[in-house]
Amino acid sequence: MKKFSVFASGNGSNLGAIIDAVRAGGISAELVLVVSDKKDAYALKRAENAGIEFFCFDPKDYNQKEDYERIIVEKLGKKGVDFIVLAGFMKVLTPYFINIYRNKILNIHPALLPSFPGGRGVRDALQGGVKFSGVTVHFVDEKVDSGPIILQDIESVLEDDTEDSLLERLHKIEYRLYPKAIQLLVEDRLLVEGRCVKIIN
Ligand code: GAR
Repeated sequence: MKKFSVFASGNGSNLGAIIDAVRAGGISAELVLVVSDKKDAYALKRAENAGIEFFCFDPKDYNQKEDYERIIVEKLGKKGVDFIVLAGFMKVLTPYFINIYRNKILNIHPALLPSFPGGRGVRDALQGGVKFSGVTVHFVDEKVDSGPIILQDIESVLEDDTEDSLLERLHKIEYRLYPKAIQLLVEDRLLVEGRCVKIIN
């Protein structure tokens, strides 16, 4: 069975959905390590509650990103991790890390990429006046919220939507879409051709 790691910086509600999907058999891979750059991330509590090993680092303890990434790579290697799932992980990975796990790192973003990348995707979409937003799952490349798109789903933006109300609906999509994309990767059904991802039946 394939093994994977989830990286999260915050609440970790997507991590929670992924843990549930693994338990329910919707993801047929083993979640062996949770990684966080924030020691007070609730995601770590979720890992602990689920009995999943976790590793937390403080970027301030390192001179450069590659220094902590080398430690993470070592840990991932020891755990036999095949692929990585970013779930609200707010640190940009360096080319060093991405090259090691090329097309084996997934990310989820609460907007329809390539529009509104970054840490404020929901707010930027609302301020951009869009009538539809949504969720994107994509492979990670060197740029922020970039990389070949795997799955997307759309959500209407209502006239009285706030960041919170829209995010609440987008989260529901995320909890469904991310396990689905992860399972496609587990089943080797994602074929990357340049910027495009073909889903093999
Ligand atoms: C999610 O909505 C995810 O799409 C977003 O962070 C949230 C994490 O929530 N990611 C980004 O904005 C990436 N640019 P969670 O910690 O409750 O899973």
